[in-house]
Amino acid sequence: MLVLITETPEEGSRIAGRLVAQAIKQTPALRLGLAAGNTPIGLYQNLVDLHRTTRLDFAHVRLFSLDEFIGLPSDSPNSYHRFFHQHLLDHVNFDPAHLHLLNGQAEQDIVSYCVSYERLIRNQGGIDLQILGIGQNGHLGFNEPGSSLNSRTRRSLLSASTKYNLARAFDSESVPEWAVTMGLGAIREAQTLLLLALGAHKAEIVAKALEGPLSAFIPASSIQLHPSVVLVLDRHAAGSLNNQDYYLQQSSQVMENNHWFLEPSFMQVAQTGLPAKP
Ligand code: F6R
Repeated sequence: MLVLITETPEEGSRIAGRLVAQAIKQTPALRLGLAAGNTPIGLYQNLVDLHRTTRLDFAHVRLFSLDEFIGLPSDSPNSYHRFFHQHLLDHVNFDPAHLHLLNGQAEQDIVSYCVSYERLIRNQGGIDLQILGIGQNGHLGFNEPGSSLNSRTRRSLLSASTKYNLARAFDSESVPEWAVTMGLGAIREAQTLLLLALGAHKAEIVAKALEGPLSAFIPASSIQLHPSVVLVLDRHAAGSLNNQDYYLQQSSQVMENNHWFLEPSFMQVAQTGLPAKP
């Protein structure tokens, strides 16, 4: 696992945005998995800025989403469908034919809908890069504590703590009971995972997910099983890590040499390790 620790949340968002942009430049038809929530808003803002200033091209990028609330109309201000439009899609040149957002109002039976969503991803060749956040209770997507580490895409009952955290953003609308989420096993099929966590309120759970035992009780710990993971943390979110010194050493290697943004791609680096200093 490559853990990059930045001084500020803004720098974390900027680095994560540059990593995604680099992946798009290297693979214009990148299959990109999107996460919602407060954390990646800055990342998406950076992608929008890069689209404006450097013409970062989304025309061929294939977009998939990680989760969605069940029962919210897609135009609800709280739906993730709306979130992706507001923070990314309305500002870049994506092709609607390449957009595959989970639908929380699918007419189809939910079980067959989830099977068909996974089949769609497989038929497109799988996800190259999956953006992830982490819930304060350790959820990944909406895989709540107790989810099988090999779970598949399915309907998921939101836990009381998740509903409590979401309630702050859901002004008048009540927080749904259910979501549809890619399962932990399905998420780990992505070639590279990019997990972003910012702020002191994430410190404890980040440490459990990264350094604690692998456990269905901390669903995000399942990233420990993946061969190619990059974590971007600001120093507050990294604050409870035991191995912090080593991660800081890794971070300065990457940032000082700046070869991170050149060759080989960060997705290769995440898998094969840091190249030696030039
Ligand atoms: C959203 C998602 C969730 C969030 C998590 C953290 O698509 O999958 O797992 O990543 O709830 O949310 P924030 O970023 O709002 O703290």
